[in-house]
Amino acid sequence: MSTLVIGGAGYIGAHVVRLLLDRGEDVVVVDDLSTGAADRIGEATLVELDVAGPGAQESLEKVMRERDVTAVIHFAAKKQVGESVARPTWYYLNNVGGLANVLAAMEASGVTRMIFSSSAAVYGMPPVELVTEDVDCRPINPYGETKLIGEWMMADCERAWGLRWAGLRYFNVAGSGWPDLGDPAVLNLVPMVLDRLERGDRPKIFGDDYPTPDGTCIRDYIHVLDLAHAHLAAANYLEGDGALIEHVFNVATGEGASVRQVIDTLGAVSGLDVTPDIEARRPGDPPRLVAAPDRINAVLGWKAEHRLEDIIRSAWEAWQAGPRRIG
Ligand code: UFG
Repeated sequence: MSTLVIGGAGYIGAHVVRLLLDRGEDVVVVDDLSTGAADRIGEATLVELDVAGPGAQESLEKVMRERDVTAVIHFAAKKQVGESVARPTWYYLNNVGGLANVLAAMEASGVTRMIFSSSAAVYGMPPVELVTEDVDCRPINPYGETKLIGEWMMADCERAWGLRWAGLRYFNVAGSGWPDLGDPAVLNLVPMVLDRLERGDRPKIFGDDYPTPDGTCIRDYIHVLDLAHAHLAAANYLEGDGALIEHVFNVATGEGASVRQVIDTLGAVSGLDVTPDIEARRPGDPPRLVAAPDRINAVLGWKAEHRLEDIIRSAWEAWQAGPRRIG
């Protein structure tokens, strides 16, 4: 019996792989290593494969049968909003096509449990203080659309052949569970600030005239290790054959932090001068995106343990342990 972690060599996936290995589980990682790194997965078996590439369905089916896979955790996807706007069909091919191959292989080999990396991007710009899972999903970019379609695909497979699935809607993931598993991409606020500081530049704030207390955008930052634990909680939930009451879950803390607070915390933790440059607003940024985590607390029994300072401190430690930058 083994768990198949697709995209397990990436930033979040590698955290889940390490937790599974620590529990003594047999883990197979499928990853195309386009952004992941083989040295992040410990003694898990690596199968190098692009799930959206030619022949992927058959290769996945073979892995599932040979390794007696009982559950799939599917991280592998493209995840850059701007890129998704510029190259929508490529996002559909990768994210939707890749998932279709995974689901087809699961159906063919009789694997019925699936945990899927969804995103707060499915919501778009919900006009609420706290986003619950019942808010209308109106994604505003192809990336968010591919994640919402992914959820629909799994709901269809549940009806058709009994897939047992959970979609975890990640909010703003940052930090590291271990110094060697930091976020290698410089694409989000925390690594972007760290990158600027390392180059001797000032951090940038994209807009300080938003209708928020300090004028900068507010997000719900989640520690990547907490997020990894949410996957284990979801795996427990899917075990057995009891009815699944819910399928999609916000993974968040319920607390917002502003861009300025994040940068100031980084200054406090690192001792560096973090005086920012104020830039123009970045198109498409909602002023505030904070989630109600009540459903995941109640149904999966999961709660975030870490708050902003832990997140930033662990990101700083991992950054210093670098360099392993991509993007
Ligand atoms: N920001 C800055 N300066 C920087 C980098 C970011 O001010 O150097 C700001 C952004 O404008 C935004 C906030 O920091 O207000 C957070 O930005 P990120 O890019 O880190 O994260 P987003 O909230 O924009 O994006 C995240 C995920 C996406 C997901 C999106 C919507 O990274 O995958 O939430 O849910 F699509």
